[in-house]
Amino acid sequence: MEQEKYHFGMVGLGVMGRNFILNVADNGFSAAGLDLDKEKVAALNSEGSGKKVKGTTSKEEFIDMLEAPRCVMLLVPAGKAVDSVIDDLLPHLDKGDLIIDGGNSFFEDTNRREKYLTEKGVHFMGIGVSGGAKGARLGPSIMPGGKAEAYDLVKPILEAVSAKVNNEPCVAYLGNTSSGNYVKMVHNGIEYALMQLIAEAYDVLKQIGGLSNEELHETFSKWNEGKLQSFLIEITAAIFTQEDPETGRMLVDAILDKAKQKGTGKWTSQNAMDLGMPVPTIDAAVTMRELSALKSDRITLDSIFDGAGTYPSVDKATFVDQVENALYFAFIMAYAQGMAVLSTASEDYNYGLNLETIAKIWRGGCIIRAGLLEHIRKAYDAKPDLINLIADSFFATEIKSIQGDTREVISLGIKAGVPLTAFSSALSYFDSLRSGRLPLNLVQAQRDFFGSHTYERTDMDGIFHTEWE
Ligand code: 6PG
Repeated sequence: MEQEKYHFGMVGLGVMGRNFILNVADNGFSAAGLDLDKEKVAALNSEGSGKKVKGTTSKEEFIDMLEAPRCVMLLVPAGKAVDSVIDDLLPHLDKGDLIIDGGNSFFEDTNRREKYLTEKGVHFMGIGVSGGAKGARLGPSIMPGGKAEAYDLVKPILEAVSAKVNNEPCVAYLGNTSSGNYVKMVHNGIEYALMQLIAEAYDVLKQIGGLSNEELHETFSKWNEGKLQSFLIEITAAIFTQEDPETGRMLVDAILDKAKQKGTGKWTSQNAMDLGMPVPTIDAAVTMRELSALKSDRITLDSIFDGAGTYPSVDKATFVDQVENALYFAFIMAYAQGMAVLSTASEDYNYGLNLETIAKIWRGGCIIRAGLLEHIRKAYDAKPDLINLIADSFFATEIKSIQGDTREVISLGIKAGVPLTAFSSALSYFDSLRSGRLPLNLVQAQRDFFGSHTYERTDMDGIFHTEWE
């Protein structure tokens, strides 16, 4: 009798991989898993008991278990591990099979891998998966890029496992080559910006507003019911209730203020710069992770510059409302920067991205899911070639009503000496974008003065140079 074949294969049975295929099985598809680590295979077989799931440590058995054309997804650490798994699998695959890289791979690696595998007759897709371990198990947001015919092979499974918003799956074909990894990279850049902005809001609420952890919990919980409704605000509210079992103190106060990073936020900043697109709030978030790492230098300098600012006195309730508006303003700027870089990348790399679709699949399952994304979706639905998100009438009206509070919160922070790197960058991004005239005429004059770099004029066409001295 012919052995029963499985619809879907997963290589890498860490918690993300296991959870993803348990989700596949819950949605009526059978799934096979491969990992060299016996314990991970055993964990899958026990967590998946009663489901159409089977794990193995044997590559040959795994390949043989899959129905043709095979759909094999990799959830292994980005980088060399992806290449080595591909090289391992390739001799056993047939033409027309599909390998999906579900990790946070660098988009240029995806371009290289797709080209290499296409030459061998094997499909390759880079897909972003967001939502952490819980998302993988219950419904992530999925960002697939590659050939449309390859996507068709796996579309029913990805649609079934993804998060749903208004019964619509949080997955859609995004575009060719590395577009899926690129969109996920920018998702993470926005994630970095939102997280840093929330951290700065926490800092001013605590240092200037004098809010206790209990009040912070109440404030963030309330904000999560309003215009800031989002996954990151929701988990932030929960963080302020977590006690440290070791000491009985609140855990957040015991955590060292050094934030690590795996690189996706930095890639967003670096690539946006290559494209000539400003993403200052994402840059600020990366910078702050770097600054946070300089802990011992900060402690030394703290003793030299202790008390640099003066704390203004504020009415707590009014201040909390102002910070809510400032955070909402800065959230809008973070999404606007991310969408703008996606728009330019789509043109420069011929991805063929649709920004409305991206906003739509980010509404559920992913780390940056937020009520705001429905408004972003509507903005790009109404005008796909919007010059910037802030030009949309809904956002323009919102921004006009909250920019005053944003300026006030940032001024108070500056007076108090509270670092508001991300907030300030969001406001400067807005002020620069809305300035018909910037002082960069002077920069051009300086360039021409010391380097004969020439300049253009406001009143005449042509290229000009002046002998300044
Ligand atoms: C997601 C997350 C996920 C991961 C981040 C963490 O969308 O589920 O973005 O991909 O948690 O990459 O990144 P850092 O370690 O760089 O903060």
